[in-house]
Amino acid sequence: MAKVRKVFICRNCGATQQRWMGKCPDCNTWDSLEESTIDPSSEKDPQRMSALAWTQVQSMRETNADDAQALASAPATGAVALSDVDAAPATVERMPTSLREFDRTLGTSLVNNVTIAGLVPGSAVLVGGEPGIGKSTLLLQAARAWASQGTKVLYVSSEESVEQVAMRAKRIAFNESELSPPDAAGTSKRVSSGTSSLRYSGTSPSHSVTSSLFLLHDTNLARIVEQTRKVQPRVLVIDSVQMIYRGDITAAPGSVTQLRRCCAELVYLAKMANIAVVLVGHVTKDGQLAGPRLLEHLVDVVLSFEGDRAHSHRVVRSVKNRFGSTLEIGLFEMTGTGLREIEEGGIIAAISAHDTPRPGCVLSPIMTGTRCMMVEVQALTATGFLGAAKRKCSGLDSNRMAMLIAVLEQHAGLRLADRDIFASSVGGLKVLDPSSDLALLLAIAGAHYRKPIAPRTCALGEVGLSGEIRSVPHLEQRIREAARLGCARVLCPVSKDAKMLAKQLAIEITQVKNVDQALEQLG
Ligand code: TYD
Ligand code: MG
Repeated sequence: MAKVRKVFICRNCGATQQRWMGKCPDCNTWDSLEESTIDPSSEKDPQRMSALAWTQVQSMRETNADDAQALASAPATGAVALSDVDAAPATVERMPTSLREFDRTLGTSLVNNVTIAGLVPGSAVLVGGEPGIGKSTLLLQAARAWASQGTKVLYVSSEESVEQVAMRAKRIAFNESELSPPDAAGTSKRVSSGTSSLRYSGTSPSHSVTSSLFLLHDTNLARIVEQTRKVQPRVLVIDSVQMIYRGDITAAPGSVTQLRRCCAELVYLAKMANIAVVLVGHVTKDGQLAGPRLLEHLVDVVLSFEGDRAHSHRVVRSVKNRFGSTLEIGLFEMTGTGLREIEEGGIIAAISAHDTPRPGCVLSPIMTGTRCMMVEVQALTATGFLGAAKRKCSGLDSNRMAMLIAVLEQHAGLRLADRDIFASSVGGLKVLDPSSDLALLLAIAGAHYRKPIAPRTCALGEVGLSGEIRSVPHLEQRIREAARLGCARVLCPVSKDAKMLAKQLAIEITQVKNVDQALEQLG
């Protein structure tokens, strides 16, 4: 009989080692190897894969017996020449939610010249984020939106009981007609071995929401797969994958072995049964621990749900997307009744706050994906020690800040060597667009000289090492957005379209060639 083997798996990168080591040789992380056992007998068990077993039954049912026989004896798909592949553009079907900010991060596709965004059937999506950031809230809102369109959704809540989920459903935008209170106690009763649908009055206009959204509280993967088989949903939400376990693996739920195997099986289920699987995963403060990081390569789409718990803004960022762009972000605000979308044109920085000039605060229209957003960049300089001056920034790139400080010293004659410099983007949004360089440069110089920029003025432009202000992509879109939001003046790099835009949008456009010209705007 084969012996049970001990291996050590890295909780950061998932590499397997034969013996314990202090540092993972693959990813160089310290103290990340976790002991786990491999039982060869369970690996060979044909019933091992419950999802596999089910999908085999499915394919048998769909095809007739002879076909199934042929299917079983048919060789696995072989290699094909590229020229033989049908290159007709595959029309990707998508299931949109009414949350446009969320849909956009899931990806968009063009069908008959109409752009549709949303979840791709049969795809596996991982939503990662710190505990308590609002993942369950977001997915319950999304589940509700899918269910209201008649899409069957099974929401597996492995952390909370169905009553807790139903309570949250009441708190967020589930209005009274969707959840009729009279028989609430009876219908929301927890059924431990089965699903309970959020089913209330059958005559309600939103009948489809309540009869298409099913809740299940379970952590055993085999039972979840069994319930999925019964309910036959088009979307399966697992909240969270860290709590799911397979009974035949001795490792604890949330361990590397359990996570990898459970996730692989759920992804397989998604592909074979054409069910979109949305997995929720926790990450720790430093984004390190076993979980989302380990699972990223298994799934099609990885969304990261970020934000500062102290701020109400939340950002859904696409980290990996096989069906769309990874540049997109979705903006939300956490309110007392769930997440509210901050739609296009919504701003993090209030322009009206710029009616009174403040030194060190500059607005900048930045691009994230296809959308333009106005952010406020702030800087402060304080007395420091020569050789030990602090340079700290939050929400901005510290390397870019260091570069801008050097440009100010060399090309504008500022003495900053003994000044502590602090910079941040207001509202907790990460600003990675280099076109906010000019705004940060003006914020630092403005803070140093205690001179503000004119009211309702925004700045955009990339700053080069020789002190020149370089042009930025999507200049027109940015200036249009600034004008729409009520900016009176834009500082931008030299562009031939500037005059035409200024006339068209009735906005004052000041073109700046270099750092000296930019600093002249402070006063
Ligand atoms: P939750 O979705 O449970 O977070 P996660 O699943 O990521 O752990 O909710 C997180 C926080 O959001 C919680 O502390 C309470 C708060 N919250 C609101 O402010 N408003 C709401 O409507 C809801 C449902 C939650
Ligand atoms: Mg949760």
